[in-house]
Amino acid sequence: MSTLRLLAISGSSRTGSWNRKLVDVAARAAQARGAQVESLDLRSLALPLYDADLEKAGGVPEGARRLRDALRAADGVLLSAPEYNGFPTPLLLNSFDWLSRLQPEGDAPSGLAASSGKPLGLFSASPGPMGALRSLNFTRQYLGMTIAMLPVPQQFALSKAGEAFDESGALKDAKQQAALEAVVASLIRLATALKSAG
Ligand SMILES: Cc1cc2nc3c(=O)[nH]c(=O)nc-3n(C[C@H](O)[C@H](O)[C@H](O)COP(=O)(O)O)c2cc1C
Repeated sequence: MSTLRLLAISGSSRTGSWNRKLVDVAARAAQARGAQVESLDLRSLALPLYDADLEKAGGVPEGARRLRDALRAADGVLLSAPEYNGFPTPLLLNSFDWLSRLQPEGDAPSGLAASSGKPLGLFSASPGPMGALRSLNFTRQYLGMTIAMLPVPQQFALSKAGEAFDESGALKDAKQQAALEAVVASLIRLATALKSAG
């Protein structure tokens, strides 16, 4: 079987993001298990706030195609996203809302066909005491039910993110690293099984 390809998505709108750091740790753990990992920051897609008039006038923006193509090329996804007022961020929801508007184009599938059945490992990070756990559960519901991805049961919410990383970007706490690795291992198991099933 060819090398497993994973996509590491950060849903942060901030330089120096804790969620970027966390998904990078997960990406390194996946690479250590032999996976190849591509990184994507949702902010780099430069998607405007969803607007039906904009869509009618100009179609779905290019950034949604970049997200579709990155998902299409991946066997599985690692995703870490911040929490705003107990909910997934507008950036996360808006990116996948635009994706859902993409219809099939030539050889390219619809946005939802690209995300459908894609194994997903979920993470979140926050400077607060709950590690964005409230939004993580909504993210699971949104990406699992509506966007049709396949979240593995394990997930990891990093609390007090401001104190959690050392200078090299590694997690200081071995228990937190083990919890993160459990998500990565589960994702790799599922993605490998689905890839080998064809
Ligand atoms: C509008 C807004 C609402 C926020 N609400 C929450 C919240 O409900 N829970 C929480 O833990 N942190 C909350 N935060 C703080 C974020 O966790 C913090 O900005 C964090 O750094 C965002 O993640 P990032 O570093 O990956 O961008 C909020 C921040 C903003 C800007």
